[in-house]
Amino acid sequence: MAVRPILVIPDTRLRAVADPIVEVDEEIRTLAQDMLDTMYDAPGIGLAAPQIGVMKRIVVMDLAPEGEAPEPMVLINPEITHFGEQMQVTEEGCLSIPELYYEVERPNEVTVSYTDLNGDTVTKQAEGKLAVCIQHEIDHLDGVLYIDYLSRLKRDRVIKKFDKAAKRAAG
Ligand code: NI
Repeated sequence: MAVRPILVIPDTRLRAVADPIVEVDEEIRTLAQDMLDTMYDAPGIGLAAPQIGVMKRIVVMDLAPEGEAPEPMVLINPEITHFGEQMQVTEEGCLSIPELYYEVERPNEVTVSYTDLNGDTVTKQAEGKLAVCIQHEIDHLDGVLYIDYLSRLKRDRVIKKFDKAAKRAAG
């Protein structure tokens, strides 16, 4: 068990494209466990490897309701193969953009294909909150953040706030 530090914008690793995982080996299984530990510790409902500075295509999620048994999900090399036509607006936040929440519009249904920890290919249909979370986390693997879907005014305000904080921290 290892909780790893979570990167915060404007860290440039959050804007890079992550590499496909070639083999699900012990290193990947350890990474997945560390990511789950880090996500639960935060706490959050989703985490992508670039958020801990590992540029690999893997995300973890758990959308089990509070107080119920955990339902950890690990998606390796995930790809959305179908987007539903209906859109939904939900409030999103991100562990790499802490303490802010904004409404974002996304398709309310997706089909996702991925490799699981056994190395098997899985295809899953998701809707509602799970569909939002899948899209948000997979975006991270391509250097895309949810604030990219906001109006330029709102997005610039967020970016400026974190740029200033980073400069202050750097002295
Ligand atoms: Ni995020």
